[in-house]
Amino acid sequence: MTDTTDTGITDNDGADAADAAQGGIESPSGFDFRGLTVSGLAAPAAAVPASGKGDAKSGKGGKSDKGDKGDKKKGKDAKKTAKSGKAEKADKADKSDKDKVEGGKSEKSDKTDDSAAVTTGKRSIFPFLGTFSDKPGSNGPALFEPMTLRGLTIRNRIWLPPMDTYSALGRDGRPTPFHYQHYVSRALGGFGMIIVEATAVAPEGRISPCDVGLWDDGQIDAWRWIVEDIKATGAAAAIQLNHAGRKGSTGCFAVGYEGRTVPPEAGGWATVAPSPIPFGEYTTPRALSVDEIHGLVDAFAVAARRAVAAGFQAIEIHAAHGYLISQFLDPLSNEREDEYGKGFEGRIRFLLEVADAIRAGIPGDMPLLVRVSATDWAAGGWDLDQTVALARILKDHGVDLVDVSTGGIVSGVTVPVKPDYQVPFSSQVRKRAEVPVTAVGLITKPKQAEKVLVKGNADAIEIGRAALRDPYWPLRAADKLGVPVSKAPYAPQYVRGAF
Ligand SMILES: Cc1cc2nc3c(=O)[nH]c(=O)nc-3n(C[C@H](O)[C@H](O)[C@H](O)COP(=O)(O)O)c2cc1C
Repeated sequence: MTDTTDTGITDNDGADAADAAQGGIESPSGFDFRGLTVSGLAAPAAAVPASGKGDAKSGKGGKSDKGDKGDKKKGKDAKKTAKSGKAEKADKADKSDKDKVEGGKSEKSDKTDDSAAVTTGKRSIFPFLGTFSDKPGSNGPALFEPMTLRGLTIRNRIWLPPMDTYSALGRDGRPTPFHYQHYVSRALGGFGMIIVEATAVAPEGRISPCDVGLWDDGQIDAWRWIVEDIKATGAAAAIQLNHAGRKGSTGCFAVGYEGRTVPPEAGGWATVAPSPIPFGEYTTPRALSVDEIHGLVDAFAVAARRAVAAGFQAIEIHAAHGYLISQFLDPLSNEREDEYGKGFEGRIRFLLEVADAIRAGIPGDMPLLVRVSATDWAAGGWDLDQTVALARILKDHGVDLVDVSTGGIVSGVTVPVKPDYQVPFSSQVRKRAEVPVTAVGLITKPKQAEKVLVKGNADAIEIGRAALRDPYWPLRAADKLGVPVSKAPYAPQYVRGAF
């Protein structure tokens, strides 16, 4: 499989759609999960605004402050002794993401670079953005500086990017206790914003039969308890809305057919796209009619309103990685001759209509994000210049931040994957389009992440796979960067176990 983003995973089981349709939230305190009734799981705590003010402070008390110090020293000593082992382990983990990315880069050289960057502050700041209160990094680690987008203040700049877990095992688009644990544990781990995985706006818009969705009012309650408890930790809750287009109906660990189209007899469906051009070995999609395109614009808008009803605080439109919107953007997948194709203006029309429709239906103070692939890494396709041009236009359509990724559109291309490999793209979009951006892609270490912000290459960073192996990445980073426990995003319950 050449597509390294948003796809993945294999085989197993095969829960039947009808069977699973039984599942779903019965009440916040009793959860009926495919026949298994679990009570008392949801008991939602009182929602706390995502300012992050509550968490660290409430855990502060004189006692814990003192304890912090002692613990911290102990921790540091322990760390010294355990250091080599730990470092080795971390290194190994990084390597597993993408072979040899560490290369000869030593811890030492890393350190020197970072401290120089943090203390000298030799980077331009972007007053037009106003997302940092001062030079990034001059008031303590930039990673832990809150960030405000419209009416939402996010407690820090370490965000969980959307990562499909293919775990709506009931095949009814409803999140399950797995999703609760997955997202709430990372919220407890200190992430500033949790961007929930690609969520389908229509059943045929799912990447796999086990994708979550918001195409039906009945799915709203299944999200609510998760969103409430993400927010109760002090993290902000965002959701990525998606239609997979020609990359829909693909396999996953629970269904099988990994990297292939799931046939109708196994619960798959016929796919749609701007043009009848298949992605790699997947089945050939049917070209959408103009009426159908209008219907999908509505589907995004209605799903966004459902997300608001479920309590989400920000919406991200998935316009990256070769899914439907990105299929419209890219000349290599969009050969339409009507108003949704031909030139740049036609190819971006679907996205702009989706953004307008969502913006019109969500609260004015709610941030709207768009994830893009800044390049498809293929000659003659979507590229950085088009991305910058698009980002400038998106600002006029109520979009507050561009989440900059790459690839996933054209199969079989070579992506030069290494640490920070997508940072040059976020940096360019930020500087040239003058729009807040996030950077993502093999950012795995705290100092590495801090440097991205301090150098003005992004307004926030996202930790993907590294967060799959360490839900507490932000708390660990706070320790590494010298943030006092009382200022780190600890849940009060966890302060006594602080790093
Ligand atoms: C298991 C998995 C699922 C993913 N699902 C999504 C998704 O639903 N939407 C999306 O935009 N990107 C998705 N991605 C891409 C990640 O958001 C992220 O951009 C990518 O993993 C690179 O960041 P990293 O190196 O920190 O992991 C997924 C990645 C993984 C590993």
